[in-house]
Amino acid sequence: MLSPISHLPFVVLILSVSVATSATHQESFVQCLNLNSDKTFPFNSLIYTPNNPSFTSVLDSSGQNRRLLVSSAPKPKFIFTPTRDSHVQAAVICSKKLGIHFRVLSGGHDFEGISYVSEIGGVFIVIDLIKLREINVDIKSNTAWVEAGATNGEVYYRIYEKSSVHGFPAGVCTSLGIGGHITGGAYGTMVRKYGLAVDNVLDAKIVDANGRILDREAMGEDLFWAIRGGGGGSFGILLWWKIKLVPVPSTVTVFTVNKTLEEGATKLLQRWQEVAPYVDHNLFIRVLIQRTQKTITTLYNALFLGEARELLKIMKTSFPELGLRRNDCLETSWIKSVLYFSNFPSGTNPEVLLRGKSLVKTFFKGKSDFVREPIPETGLEGLWQRVLEDDSSLIIWSPYGGSMNQFSESDTPFPYRNGTRFIILYLSAWQEGDKNAAKHIDWIRNVHNYMVPYVSSFPRGQYVNYRDLDLGVNTKNSTSYREASVWGYRYFKNNFDRLVKIKTKVDPQNVFRHEQSVPPLPV
Ligand SMILES: Cc1cc2nc3c(=O)[nH]c(=O)nc-3n(C[C@H](O)[C@H](O)[C@H](O)COP(=O)(O)OP(=O)(O)OC[C@H]3O[C@@H](n4cnc5c(N)ncnc54)[C@H](O)[C@@H]3O)c2cc1C
Ligand SMILES: *[C@@H]1O[C@H](CO)[C@@H](O)[C@H](O)[C@H]1NC(C)=O
Ligand SMILES: *[C@@H]1O[C@H](CO)[C@@H](O)[C@H](O)[C@H]1NC(C)=O
Ligand SMILES: *[C@@H]1O[C@H](CO)[C@@H](O)[C@H](O)[C@H]1NC(C)=O
Repeated sequence: MLSPISHLPFVVLILSVSVATSATHQESFVQCLNLNSDKTFPFNSLIYTPNNPSFTSVLDSSGQNRRLLVSSAPKPKFIFTPTRDSHVQAAVICSKKLGIHFRVLSGGHDFEGISYVSEIGGVFIVIDLIKLREINVDIKSNTAWVEAGATNGEVYYRIYEKSSVHGFPAGVCTSLGIGGHITGGAYGTMVRKYGLAVDNVLDAKIVDANGRILDREAMGEDLFWAIRGGGGGSFGILLWWKIKLVPVPSTVTVFTVNKTLEEGATKLLQRWQEVAPYVDHNLFIRVLIQRTQKTITTLYNALFLGEARELLKIMKTSFPELGLRRNDCLETSWIKSVLYFSNFPSGTNPEVLLRGKSLVKTFFKGKSDFVREPIPETGLEGLWQRVLEDDSSLIIWSPYGGSMNQFSESDTPFPYRNGTRFIILYLSAWQEGDKNAAKHIDWIRNVHNYMVPYVSSFPRGQYVNYRDLDLGVNTKNSTSYREASVWGYRYFKNNFDRLVKIKTKVDPQNVFRHEQSVPPLPV
């Protein structure tokens, strides 16, 4: 909502006042940082206020959803870009001391922009970890220490640099920040073979609510459990993850095959629901559903951890209906499969992964579902009707099963494990600005409502990494358990109660809070 022109003088007045207060906030913050970390460090050089010419470009390159970057969205008083762990510690201590609300940003992909927009708490700042992106890969021990601001693409690249037979099972899009991504679970093309990224972390370093740096041993197993799936921004600031590398073959196979409605997409997708969650764990076949002209196209987009010859054998016995041919298959390396899945043109060098941020940004809204029983043909037909109504939508079905079945609901905060056939991501992404935002958002709410009978229920699950503020928000500075439990159970099922207990213990003052942070119980 833009202010009407007639209010312009008023707006200018407010702006000049806020510039003045942001200067005071900045001054006291910098003084406090100097007192609490490095006495002589020129912290002003790491701070961007709205009157700094780079403010908008820094914010716009860090935030990834243009819907939350419009000029009417609340802006931080300033952005702080620490270059050392001790700066992050001091930032927590000083924010507390000065009563400044802060948000933490790693890759900036939060669906609702809560790493750079705050609707609670009045004045806020952003602690942007963009300059903390070191990655140290140790092939001998099959591990790596990764700093929170690094992207998953950079992690894949640094592993590839040292070995062609190691990989890491995190997200598909290669610009996700390791700090915000892994804390919510994190799945990708190797989810059926190796589970979530959180199943493959060994240690971590966080800054806690008192500004201390804690590793796994120091934080204890409760808190270490909570940060592996309990969602970003509730339990501390992740500084480092220690990840376990996983073996990948030197040759993998990828393919993308499509079917339109006229070519029998409905029957095929019914079959996929029976096959994809149970087939060989080395095979991940996801389905992208999109309107194309007057029909719907379903794209079967797959990674097989092995050679084409073996893949064709498996497909012939398990999924002959797809009609996969040798010509559809591309044998390649694991790192090239990463580029293939994130849609880089063929022939792109892996070095592109070091570029970090994604280049194409859209306005978007997303939602998710988990499915345990196959969706019948009538269900799919109603879905097609709705997909035909929006030209900017994309629905992605990713199969689980395999390794995911070896976990019980409470092993990690992410509960959608044993028996979950697949996850659905609904996206509406548009380029035309605010103009049609309401239309696209209505569309996604409508399609999500339509799916109720076919997806998980009591509670209807959603994925915390696909954050959705339609589920409810923390309206006050300190949220009530009742308010939060509405969305809490949907993201975490009964794990929510354990997360609340841990939160109450480690952050009773709710230093780490946002629209959907886990609340502490009143003490
Ligand atoms: C285009 C796109 C593709 C995606 N693909 C996948 C996918 O394939 N698989 C998948 O699992 N998910 C996927 N996601 C979802 C993604 O995992 C989440 O959006 C994730 O939270 C992004 O992390 P980030 O650091 O980039 O985001 P941010 O916006 O920086 O952070 C997300 C949340 O974590 C908090 N946070 C950030 N850094 C830290 C930190 N260091 N310590 C503590 N809290 C922190 C933030 O405050 C915020 O609440 C995708 C998202 C997008 C937009
Ligand atoms: C939250 O607290 C801050 C100060 O810490 C205050 O400025 C703000 O108005 C409060 N917000 C609400 C909704 O109470
Ligand atoms: C579907 O496959 C055909 C044949 O391979 C190809 O020409 C077409 O572009 C594909 N459609 C989409 C939407 O990818
Ligand atoms: C998964 O579910 C099956 C069937 O309900 C059950 O037999 C098995 O023990 C479960 N495994 C785990 C790890 O919970």
